[in-house]
Amino acid sequence: MSLAPQELENSASKYAAEAIKLDSQGSRGMAIQSYQRAIEALVKLVQIYPDYKLNKVYMERANAYQNRIKALQMSHGLDDDSPAPAESASAGGNGRSEPANGKSGSSHSGGGKSSGNVETLKADFDDLVMKDKPKVSWDEVIGLDDAKRAIRESIVYPMKRPDLFPLGWPRGILLYGPPGCGKTLLAAAAAAEIDGYFINVDAASMMSKWLGEAEKNISKLFKMARSLNENEGVPVLLFIDEIDSLLGQRNSEVGGEVRVKNQFLTEMDGINGKSKESQLYVIGATNKPWSLEAGFLRRFQKRIYVTLPDNASRTNLFSQYTKPLNTEGSLKIEELAKITEGYSASDVKDICQSVQLRVVNELFESGKAMEAGANPRPVGNNDFKEILKIRKPSVSVDMIRAYMRWSDQFKAL
Ligand SMILES: Nc1ncnc2c1ncn2[C@@H]1O[C@H](COP(=O)(O)OP(=O)(O)O)[C@@H](O)[C@H]1O
Ligand SMILES: [Mg+2]
Repeated sequence: MSLAPQELENSASKYAAEAIKLDSQGSRGMAIQSYQRAIEALVKLVQIYPDYKLNKVYMERANAYQNRIKALQMSHGLDDDSPAPAESASAGGNGRSEPANGKSGSSHSGGGKSSGNVETLKADFDDLVMKDKPKVSWDEVIGLDDAKRAIRESIVYPMKRPDLFPLGWPRGILLYGPPGCGKTLLAAAAAAEIDGYFINVDAASMMSKWLGEAEKNISKLFKMARSLNENEGVPVLLFIDEIDSLLGQRNSEVGGEVRVKNQFLTEMDGINGKSKESQLYVIGATNKPWSLEAGFLRRFQKRIYVTLPDNASRTNLFSQYTKPLNTEGSLKIEELAKITEGYSASDVKDICQSVQLRVVNELFESGKAMEAGANPRPVGNNDFKEILKIRKPSVSVDMIRAYMRWSDQFKAL
């Protein structure tokens, strides 16, 4: 790899700026992804230019981003939310505490603007329409062949050749499954393919931001998406992350969630019943499919289980995420894959990152980091084993059973 430090540094700061922007808009999933990319660039930088004078600063920054990712993940953890049995597809969390994400301020008045005008609507939701679409390729998404196929069949192909689908095609896809397995990543890969608009909505933070006005805003959001598609004649992909939050139990707003849900159902019916030419797609993602009721599910013709990686996928994940690392001899990737059954894709990535941070920290702690030519030692199999001792899977076996039970009943490929 022959990237100049300057280039890597630029790309780190570009991703960091993007992450901070997304973060401030409450797009948690996308923000995490961008923070991760910033970390990757920084880590690579330190690796390739071990005696660069700013390395200490880079590592501090990488650590700060890592902490922010942790905080973002915690603020919407699953831990406080035991899965309801598959039979009762209603009632989600029992008194879960909602987003620690006290974002406010942002000027979505939602007020009395009566507008069918695209520009006004677009301005209202300006921060949601992503101008720079994420650059994630399908190859970066390991495994998940069903999900990739479904997205290609229902979005990518119809978008490119609508004439080949005289009977129409599905417009709604629901991705569900444990956290950290690639739902948001898949949406980003789909967005990268779309030659049109990508609208990224994090339902959890929107609901808190729109408190009391959610119903109206949902209607405006869809209106904007529709008019972008109709007036500009380009496809529009609306990605709603943590879509279960639309149905959140919110005592402060009696009846509110019912109206929000109904509004959403109406909008989805509008999309599904649209003329064949309509190029408006909705991808919803959730870690808590059991909190979605039947009426809601029906609006998503494709419902796809984004599973924990199997052994083959973990092998690929380890090889993808250790590729940039300087290793001692060859890593026993197959063995690593075998002993990480039950770990999510994002766990595997974290493990690889932790291993690298371990050797870099070692170098700094030895006090030799700033000496000319000082390098972290190469990482070896043992480093992975050490990290694995303290890093447990982030999804419990019970949780996986709940997903499987739910999936047997509701999946639709
Ligand atoms: N299938 C996968 N292939 C490669 N990397 C993955 C995969 N799933 C998750 N990751 C890594 O973990 C991170 C978090 O995954 P994400 O898509 O946000 O999970 P989810 O939305 O299902 O909670 C991603 O940014 C990516 O780095
Ligand atoms: Mg996600």
